[in-house]
Amino acid sequence: AAHDFDVDTRTGFMPPQPALSRLPPQWETWESTLDEAISLKLMLGDTPGLAEGEKTKSESWRNRVRNLPVLPVDDLKKSELTLRRAHHVLGWIMHFYIHSLPIDAPVVIPRPISLPMLRVSEQLQLPPLLTYSDDVLYNWEYKSAPGTADRAPALDNLRCQTLFTGTTDEEEFYLSSARIELKGVDALELMQVIMDEAFVGDDIAMRRIASYLTSMSTVIHELRTLLLSARDGCNPDIFYHRIRPWFRGEDSDPLKRKWVFEGIEEDPTLRVPTELSGPSAGQSSLVHALDIFLGVDQYSHSSSLAGSSSTTATKSAFLDRMQQYMPRHHRTFLNHLSSNPRPLRSIVTGANDPALLEAYNTAVLALKEFRDAHMIIVTLYIIGPSRKPAPSAGTSVIRPDFEKDYGNVESLKGTGGTELVKFLKDVRNRTVGAVLHDS
Ligand code: HEM
Ligand code: ALA
Repeated sequence: AAHDFDVDTRTGFMPPQPALSRLPPQWETWESTLDEAISLKLMLGDTPGLAEGEKTKSESWRNRVRNLPVLPVDDLKKSELTLRRAHHVLGWIMHFYIHSLPIDAPVVIPRPISLPMLRVSEQLQLPPLLTYSDDVLYNWEYKSAPGTADRAPALDNLRCQTLFTGTTDEEEFYLSSARIELKGVDALELMQVIMDEAFVGDDIAMRRIASYLTSMSTVIHELRTLLLSARDGCNPDIFYHRIRPWFRGEDSDPLKRKWVFEGIEEDPTLRVPTELSGPSAGQSSLVHALDIFLGVDQYSHSSSLAGSSSTTATKSAFLDRMQQYMPRHHRTFLNHLSSNPRPLRSIVTGANDPALLEAYNTAVLALKEFRDAHMIIVTLYIIGPSRKPAPSAGTSVIRPDFEKDYGNVESLKGTGGTELVKFLKDVRNRTVGAVLHDS
């Protein structure tokens, strides 16, 4: 049942109710440490021309973090919801800590955060840093009380629980993904009915599948429209300079600093993380589900796409790797979808039905157009701002990112650690490879 996969018929990969907004009192000191970071409006450590007062303020907050007690996590394990909230709170504190550090400081995550974060992450089978589930799936709440007849939250009735900057730009950035997840429920529903028809398998079923696929193309077009409407509420310069540096992972650090988890050697049950990619919607189970269902993943997830700059053959493709960053039940759902005994593509190729073939191809091309729109967004939000100096108080100082990348768009890295231009173009182009031709 869908229940085992933690996929809801109304909200899909998002929970049907907002996530827990505060841990029980035992862990209040984490909550208040996060509250403090937010109310201090901590600045990025590499902000050009950062005032001395700002540096002192953020150092005294980090000092407070270093002096927190190392709280036990055993009682958190009683409930998935408290574990999730703990990952959210600790992840946010950790990113505040790391990215408020002076840019030349080593990255050492202090014991009071590193030990519980490693333990909670182990329990959730998530990596010990901020993920898409922390900033999108489990980061929404209602703006105003929902109508009693509402099946799912209205797309315009959402707000976020936690933000780095407190800007509406940041909030709209997360909510544009959240709205896509909610709208995507229509696509999940269509997958289910198509699989049911595939089980029937006669000519009428083929006709119905063609019609459902046409509906799926419409849904994917709506996802594309929602993606493009990120432009309404999120300013590209604010996004590039003030928001996105907060979610860089270890593999998108411009100075390639190693992240050290203090105290990890004290606990033999903990393992040193081998990779730490920052959050990205590449962790969206919805988009993976569309790829897998349509059989596009054999193309778009191709292992020749190393994703990160690492060229070692042992490193799997970025998109496959991102499944380790998804909530574990969603990962199981995707595995289940992958092991579908009657995959859609084999039905389409076996049916010898031109209308079905065309409906299938239209859905694949809709996904390609979603990725075209994503390239437009990335050009506007990353490539554009990276090519001009950062606006800063009085002087026009340039971010380290900019100096390094100027005139070399190819070397720009996504928060997930990919060489984003090449990676995203490849995924987009490979999506077209799934189009079927008449035999
Ligand atoms: C991947 C940027 C919004 C879906 C990526 C990557 C970048 C990026 C740079 C490459 C992975 C990395 O290294 O981080 C952006 C920017 C956005 C945005 C700047 C808005 C300001 C969205 C939204 C969605 C989305 C709203 C929809 C859920 C994806 C997907 C991937 C991806 C699915 C994986 C590649 C693929 O499957 O085509 N994004 N993104 N993005 N993003 Fe976005
Ligand atoms: N993955 C997105 C970026 O690189 C958030 O900016």
